[in-house]
Amino acid sequence: MKVVKTIKELRQLLPEGKSKGKTVGFVPTMGALHRGHLSLVQRCKKECGATVVSVFVNPTQFNDKADLERYPRTLEADVQLLQAAGCDVVFAPDEREIYPSPDTRVFDFGLLEKVMEGERRPGHFNGVAQVVSRLFDAVKPDCAYFGEKDFQQVAIVREMVRQLELPVEIVRCPIVREPDGLAMSSRNALLTPEKRAAAPLIAKTLFAAVDKVCSVDLPTLKQFVADAINASEHLRLDYFEVVCARTLQPVASLNDDCSKQACIAVYAGEIRLIDNVRLT
Ligand code: PAF
Repeated sequence: MKVVKTIKELRQLLPEGKSKGKTVGFVPTMGALHRGHLSLVQRCKKECGATVVSVFVNPTQFNDKADLERYPRTLEADVQLLQAAGCDVVFAPDEREIYPSPDTRVFDFGLLEKVMEGERRPGHFNGVAQVVSRLFDAVKPDCAYFGEKDFQQVAIVREMVRQLELPVEIVRCPIVREPDGLAMSSRNALLTPEKRAAAPLIAKTLFAAVDKVCSVDLPTLKQFVADAINASEHLRLDYFEVVCARTLQPVASLNDDCSKQACIAVYAGEIRLIDNVRLT
């Protein structure tokens, strides 16, 4: 496995793979890797000839400076995990490599970015699109792998690929959970023991919502989720939305004729956790 820091080094490595007719698979990450990331690497390895993983904490997608500062940075451990997982190339650039000058591009994702994370974290998805498009330009992957925990992010990246007409297939991969149900996230490492003990209630409540969906209406379901989460002194509901899985727009009723995704964001102290599940 090679670890490179510059686009120039990356370019020197990659034509090798391509010229041998290998497809290049790409897993973009911000590091602090966990089994969720490694499941993306495994899938990528299975489906592609060469696997590239980037580790870059992208400042332009953080709308909260404190969140950026405390984001875990564990490059050495990440490299070891990636080596063991059979990754071929780790791309770990610094900020100047990705942004030699400020990225002033403004994307327009329409209604997709007006809800949930986009609504609560202004500029977040613009920053995601800036960095992912730059990383795609550097890596030139055939396929790129994203986890479904960031359900809205996958939709935004797909839309970005469509708008920029990039020849990349976006592969959506299932959420990986801790044995107690908590969706894996780099931010879990920042939870205090009390908040960590409380956090599985998020997934438990989502699964309970799935069980209830046929017997209650939407306001009742929303109230059930709010009450269940806020009953914990360690958790505070930010939002719970039932959205159309394709458009990400909130449904008016649980009887709406579309596949529905239940999406949630919860504060555990200062740490904000998100999760989602297919409802119907
Ligand atoms: O999901 C993430 O970790 C990040 O948003 C991504 C896609 C690596 C872009 O920085």
